[in-house]
Amino acid sequence: MYDKNKLLDMALVARANAYTPYSKFKVGAAILLTNGKFILGCNVENASYGLSNCAERTALFKMISEGYTKADVEAFCIVGDTLDVISPCGACRQVMIELLKPDTPVLLCNTKRDMKEYKVIDLLPYAFTEKDL
Ligand code: THU
Repeated sequence: MYDKNKLLDMALVARANAYTPYSKFKVGAAILLTNGKFILGCNVENASYGLSNCAERTALFKMISEGYTKADVEAFCIVGDTLDVISPCGACRQVMIELLKPDTPVLLCNTKRDMKEYKVIDLLPYAFTEKDL
């Protein structure tokens, strides 16, 4: 079992780097790999708002670009300054289904350190996947 507090600490480190001049809403994400390494991601916004990238996708795309795959992932954590734990957007849920295993734990958190753990598949049931192509 992974250390949830440590994983949240790493997501908060990632969150500190968020580039959010428009929304001011900072989000952090951290991927714990089975080798013990962490891959961090934050949201990165743009004056052309639609080009903004969520923290989740930043972390997941970094993971792939560094040569890791879903088989290397132990857990994924997301944190924002929300009342209840953060809820990832639909686009990120779709990318999570693609790039993580269905049973990988996703730890949703807020800055008060509330935590709720779900599996990837619970966040996007009846998803469109490669099996549908
Ligand atoms: N955002 C994330 O990075 N992750 C989420 O789970 C929710 C939303 C970002 C996108 C945008 O930069 C800002 O938060 C406000 O929507």
